[in-house]
Amino acid sequence: MVSAPRERGTDTDVLRNDAYADRRNLDDRRNIYEFRRPRFDLVESVLDLLVVEPGGRVLDLGCGPGIYLAALAARDPSSVLVGADLSLGMLGSARDGGTNRVVNIEAVRLPFRDDAFDAAMANHMLYHVDPIPDAAREVRRVLRPGGAFLAVTNSRAHFNEFDALLAELSGRDGWWRPSHRFTMDNGGEPLSMAFDRVETVSFCGQLHVPTAEPVVRFARSMRALSGEGYSDDEWEDLMNAFAVAVGQVIERDGEFRILTDTGVFVCR
Ligand SMILES: C[S@@+](CC[C@H](N)C(=O)[O-])C[C@H]1O[C@@H](n2cnc3c(N)ncnc32)[C@H](O)[C@@H]1O
Repeated sequence: MVSAPRERGTDTDVLRNDAYADRRNLDDRRNIYEFRRPRFDLVESVLDLLVVEPGGRVLDLGCGPGIYLAALAARDPSSVLVGADLSLGMLGSARDGGTNRVVNIEAVRLPFRDDAFDAAMANHMLYHVDPIPDAAREVRRVLRPGGAFLAVTNSRAHFNEFDALLAELSGRDGWWRPSHRFTMDNGGEPLSMAFDRVETVSFCGQLHVPTAEPVVRFARSMRALSGEGYSDDEWEDLMNAFAVAVGQVIERDGEFRILTDTGVFVCR
């Protein structure tokens, strides 16, 4: 058994130029959540936890294509929204989606004055940051006293059927995904280094995927982050074997079921 490689998930060159050079990999992962039953809107559920006065100033750290910011703008067009990200490609998509204040940054050094924001969020991104406590302290610094910070991530059990199958086919001792660095299970500790109060809200559910294609697409989208050590041919072989194995499960069970366990740290 070989160990899964773990360095690429925090390599800013890989993140900026490959994994998140544009929104396509992220979209391939987001699309699978259409198969969640009962249906569930993560973005709206997270924003329900973000209490901001009308016209409030909100920072979205690692905003990606700006999905949360667009939803926030629809709730309160008078809010002042800033999208910050490592990837210029992602910031371009955020701008196309209507976010006009976008800033190209690295999360551990934020180019904003103290107390600049009423609220902040960092969704599905702190696991890419190294060191995480430095980013948490920077967010604390740019938030006004009492301002809330939300950080969304997955639990360690999230997608465990999917990961177990890939680990088995790859002969690795586990299928490493970057989110394992900062989960709902271990993420409270680095956040507590910057915030006095850290509470959690959990959204657990299940995907019922009727065909192999969305599952394999999701796996393929992880190439830049989880596929280190594979030549192109080896990766293709693994993806083909995964497609066959997922297809066999669907033939047997009528669907491929995946546990989703995502949550939010609410920090003050
Ligand atoms: C999984 S995507 C999440 C995007 C968005 N928050 C969402 O939930 O839809 C992670 C984003 O974090 C950005 N990112 C990763 N590491 C970063 C860092 N150190 N500083 C700033 N942005 C970073 C990536 O470029 C990418 O857009």
